[in-house]
Amino acid sequence: MSQSVGRFVSLEGIEGAGKSTLANALAAALREHALNVCLTREPGGTPLAEQLRSLVLARGPERISAQSETLLMFAARALHVDNLIRPALQAGDWVLCDRFTDATRAYQGSGRGVSAELIEQLAEAVHGNLWPHRTLLLDLPVEQGLGRSRARAGAGAADRFEAEDRRFFERVRTGYLKIAAAEPQRVRILDATATPALLARAALEALADLLP
Ligand code: TMP
Repeated sequence: MSQSVGRFVSLEGIEGAGKSTLANALAAALREHALNVCLTREPGGTPLAEQLRSLVLARGPERISAQSETLLMFAARALHVDNLIRPALQAGDWVLCDRFTDATRAYQGSGRGVSAELIEQLAEAVHGNLWPHRTLLLDLPVEQGLGRSRARAGAGAADRFEAEDRRFFERVRTGYLKIAAAEPQRVRILDATATPALLARAALEALADLLP
């Protein structure tokens, strides 16, 4: 992180928390501060990483173990960090990333039971001490998040994660809240039941000390 001059912000939360809407609103607000903003997402963000995203999200006949899933997430992340995130930060841009390694901790770690040790080793290998300067955790009850995401996706269109049951997302939510409790300076919890406008305002407040 030493040569990085830009700011790295990640957005996290369960499905239906409103990350994409907030990401777009935040990008527009930051651009009004004359900042160069690179809006991106995980898994994905580069052509090859987007292909890995399609593979890992698709529901197909072949079983993907929790460990394989973790490795695929980190393979996509390695491409993303090397080819987009680091260069953008070195150019002085703000990188606004819809999910990063906290998602692996929450989904594969807390959700699927992959060991924290493995996840932390892979994180160290893939991005070393590059972590978001700030992470906005959009928190809301699982029932509400799933209701929103299912209404959006329509019947039968669920991907491998959206097809999981409520208990899975309860574990993911609890995992996220534990990360926030362990790293309160980096990870800020936002009330995702708020209106989009209020949420955007709270998000900007949570980034205020990073603004020039
Ligand atoms: P999205 O729906 O927010 O775009 O994210 C795609 C899915 O990928 C979402 O269900 C969470 C999942 N995911 C993981 O399980 N682990 C990860 O490390 C990342 C980045 C995403």
